[in-house]
Amino acid sequence: MGREGRRVTVIVILGAPGAGKGTQAVLLAERLGIPHVATGDLFRAAVRDSSPIGLEARRFMERGQLVPDDITIRMLLERLSKPDAANGAILDGFPRNSAQAAALDRALADRGERVDLAVDIDVPTEELVQRMSGRYVCREAGHVYNESTNPPRVPGICDIDGSELVQREDDKAETIRTRLDVQLASLREVVDHYASTGILRTVDGIGPIDDVAAAIDDVVRGVADSAG
Ligand code: AP5
Ligand code: MG
Repeated sequence: MGREGRRVTVIVILGAPGAGKGTQAVLLAERLGIPHVATGDLFRAAVRDSSPIGLEARRFMERGQLVPDDITIRMLLERLSKPDAANGAILDGFPRNSAQAAALDRALADRGERVDLAVDIDVPTEELVQRMSGRYVCREAGHVYNESTNPPRVPGICDIDGSELVQREDDKAETIRTRLDVQLASLREVVDHYASTGILRTVDGIGPIDDVAAAIDDVVRGVADSAG
C-alpha cells in the first residue's frame, strides 16, 4: 500500500457475527475502488443458485457452523483471481480461523503480495444479538439494513436495487446464539494471527455507521502513511 511498485491492497475486515463487517466493507471498498469480497455473500449466492458449493455450504450455515476450510479457501482464492481483484480487495468474513489465515498468507506470498491491514470491529455481544435480530437484507444482492439503526427509505424495499427485503435464514434467534457460541473462538485465532504480525488495528464498532467508517478511514490512512 503506497509502496513504490506495489499497487495491490489487501485489507481484512474482522469482527463477530453482526459487528458491521459487511456494512463497513462496502463503504471502504467504494472509497478505495477495489472490490468487496465476502465469503458469506458468495455462499448465499451459491445457495440461491443451488450449485454444489451452495448445497454443501447450506448444511453448515443453517446450523450456524463454519463451512469446511477446503471448500471455503478454494472459493475465496478463485474469487481473488478474477480480474477485478487485480489491485486488491476488501475481505469480509475471511479468514475465519488460523488455517484460513495461513492459506491466505501463502496464496498472497506466491504472488509477491501480503495482507496490508486487518481491522477488527469491536462490538459487545448483547449489541450483536440486537443488530442481527433487526437486520434485513435485499433478495437481489444482499444489501444490508436494520429496522432501527439503518432503515431503508421505503419499508421492505432496497434503496439501491428496489428488490424485496428479507430476513437472513441464519438470523433466527437460536441460530444467532449458535453462531456466536461457535464462531467467537475462531475469530480470536484470526485476531491473534494478525496481532502477531503487527498489522491488526481495532476500532470501536459502537456508534453511528458514519463514525465507525471514519475510524476505519483513519486507520487505513495511518497504515498508508507509514508505508510511505
Ligand atoms: P457471514 O455472512 O460472513 O456472516 P457473519 O460473520 O455472521 O457476519 P454478518 O454478515 O452476520 O455480520 P456483519 O459483521 O457483516 O454485520 P452487518 O454489516 O450485516 O457468514 C455467514 C455464514 O457463512 C457463516 O455463519 C458460515 O456458516 C459461513 N461462512 C462465511 N464465511 C466463512 C468462512 N470464511 N469460513 C467458513 N464459513 C464461512 O451488520 C449487522 C446489522 O447491524 C445490520 O442490520 C446493520 O444495518 C447493522 N449495523 C451495522 N453497523 C451498525 C452500527 N454502527 N450501529 C448500529 N447498527 C449497525
Ligand atoms: Mg456480513
